[in-house]
Amino acid sequence: MSIVFDSKSKTFTLLTRSTSYQMQIGPLGHLLHLYYGHRAAACFDYLYLEQDIGFSPNPYDRCEGRGWSLDTQPQEYSGDLTGDFRLPSLRLRTESGLRGAELKYLHHEIRDEKYTLNGLPSALGTEDAQTLSVTLLDEASGVEVELLYGVYENLDVITRAVKITNAGSESVQLEQAASACLELPFGSWDLIHFHGRHTMERQPERVPVLNSVQEISSRRGASGHQHNPFVILCDHEATEDYGGCIAMMLVYSGNFRMQIEQSQTGSIRAVMGLGDENFTWRLNPGETFDTPEAILTHTDQGLTTLSQQLHRFLRGAICRGKFANAPRPILLNSWEANYFDFTADSILALAREAKALGMDLLVLDDGWFGSRDDDKRALGDWYPNQRKLPNGLRPLIQEIRSLGLQFGLWLEPEMVSEDSDLYRAHPDWALKMPGRKPAMSRDQLVLDLSRADVVEWLYETIAALLKDSGVTYIKWDMNRHLTDVFSASLPPDQQGETAHRYVLGLYQLLDRLTREFPDVLFEGCAGGGGRFDAGMLCYTPQIWCSDNTDPISRLAIQNGTAYGYPLSSISAHVSASPNHQTGRRTPLGTRFVVAMTGAFGYELDPAKLSESERGEIRTQIQRYREYESLIREGDYFRLSDSAWQIVSEDQSESLLSVVWMNVESNPRPKHFKLKGLDETAEYEVIRCEWFGCANAPNLNRESYSGAALLYGGLTLPPVFGDYPSMQLFLRKKI
Ligand code: DGJ
Repeated sequence: MSIVFDSKSKTFTLLTRSTSYQMQIGPLGHLLHLYYGHRAAACFDYLYLEQDIGFSPNPYDRCEGRGWSLDTQPQEYSGDLTGDFRLPSLRLRTESGLRGAELKYLHHEIRDEKYTLNGLPSALGTEDAQTLSVTLLDEASGVEVELLYGVYENLDVITRAVKITNAGSESVQLEQAASACLELPFGSWDLIHFHGRHTMERQPERVPVLNSVQEISSRRGASGHQHNPFVILCDHEATEDYGGCIAMMLVYSGNFRMQIEQSQTGSIRAVMGLGDENFTWRLNPGETFDTPEAILTHTDQGLTTLSQQLHRFLRGAICRGKFANAPRPILLNSWEANYFDFTADSILALAREAKALGMDLLVLDDGWFGSRDDDKRALGDWYPNQRKLPNGLRPLIQEIRSLGLQFGLWLEPEMVSEDSDLYRAHPDWALKMPGRKPAMSRDQLVLDLSRADVVEWLYETIAALLKDSGVTYIKWDMNRHLTDVFSASLPPDQQGETAHRYVLGLYQLLDRLTREFPDVLFEGCAGGGGRFDAGMLCYTPQIWCSDNTDPISRLAIQNGTAYGYPLSSISAHVSASPNHQTGRRTPLGTRFVVAMTGAFGYELDPAKLSESERGEIRTQIQRYREYESLIREGDYFRLSDSAWQIVSEDQSESLLSVVWMNVESNPRPKHFKLKGLDETAEYEVIRCEWFGCANAPNLNRESYSGAALLYGGLTLPPVFGDYPSMQLFLRKKI
């Protein structure tokens, strides 16, 4: 039983393998949060004292002593305008002007399966997953709030979502509907979040939680390169291996807002959900609104364990379909090889190279359709470019497949160019404010996916492209964010719904396509990693992590991404040197070491490589196949900014990768303590490889004990060269 209700103390306790989460129905019926931390058999209500804090109001029915205030008691889902001045979770307005919400317990239910959401992706149920549903009521408006908790005992995860039902008689405008509110009443906490920009996504930043409100959000209509709907709250002292940490991640791909407030008493409230700026949702009597899901996980074992818990959960319950837990094809993508400049023959030549080098899939990127000769036109015209592909796509696909190679195609379905047949036919299908010229970005506009007719057209168009075509992979790109968010199909009082309806339309489209074409691997992309979130991962088990393919930049980007997202979801390619984004020259081997820590491929023209480089690529591909399941399913350990280790769950294999970002003369030795190994075992050095290293040093041992590597560590010899790297593959001796 992972969900326990104690009717005497009126407490709900959610138990996972190593955590407890507790809440209690308070004296007046409010649902109070008591605890989220190490698994403990206790009732934590004794922690919350009644203390008169000046200017913290008391509920009308609890005035004596002035010590009980909604402003200081930990709330499970905060109301609004009723005596709690901290962050609200729900804001609403009824037709007759009533505002605010005071939420009190109505009833609850425990179910032996995981809840689902309407129109939104959410984590799949596992065998042990259970649901707690607690319904609260705001009596004045008649709005009912069903708090949903998915308890994954073995995976140490609790998911949360909320269903808001208008059980009153007036129509209601929701102005905020958070997915989760979490209170941390005591302690000294840090916030880790992941900021960035195009070609430099998800850079971790760790800051103390201040005596104020801190916000991580996106108002771009997509989760964005700039911020990610994922944060960590950790003990100020927490390290990779020690300390309490909580992750909160939203299963959502649109506007989001994550706010963290440290109150006057030192308690911390984190509220996470849909971006509520410019958001409203009309809820007529009897209607229900579902919020996106939030994923919560806790450990007191530090940040590495936290990441591993998230990785397991995302791999096991978020990613789905036949590719989620299967080897992914090693691909050659045409983008950095050709950009817009190719013909059917040159693509065929790339395919032959890909096959000769041992790859599985050739991906034809942007430029294959309509009059698409540059990025200024033709988005929406999803038929072959007559000049480049005079015989169309099908003969090309057939030829490529007859080489024994799979074929993949780039699409940017959510967009339309002004210069396109689609826009000329349907100018009202693009998001635009009446009377104002829309903001342009990459010379394109965004299709209004809040409209059912647009989604239907996209479904029909893409389904026709895929049906019996031989296409086994789609790269689903999105190269601008949403501005001028106005839908020609919604009445004025529902315009605040457009951005969320857009995401619902996107999910509906992806849901239909992935169900209809289960054998097609969909890879997510948004100008690189501009929509890298758990919502997209429900449809696209891998996402192009960044348009920056420089391995040295990628170290930081992939390292930041892997705080939350599993390596199997991080799409990474070996590209040419000098790199097209930074101009940096790096060894081919180092490019491989970085790119193979994810869903692996190439993004270059092999014909421009020397014979020895082509030989190196053949070996890289063999290596990747050998390490593939370890990388996809293993536990990931951050050793430093440029050293990491992957260990199989049974501790039988481990791969250590190290990149030298700054080679020095007469250097101090590089030293690492390895992690995750079996200290009682002996590990054989199966392979120690050096890349781009002029002196190719030797490790002086053929095997090490696990204990030696864990406690004594490994000293690496000095290296010589530009950005050299090494990989050490260890296997347990039986
Ligand atoms: C952005 C993607 O991230 C690139 O890989 C490439 O597909 C371009 N778009 C094509 O326009």
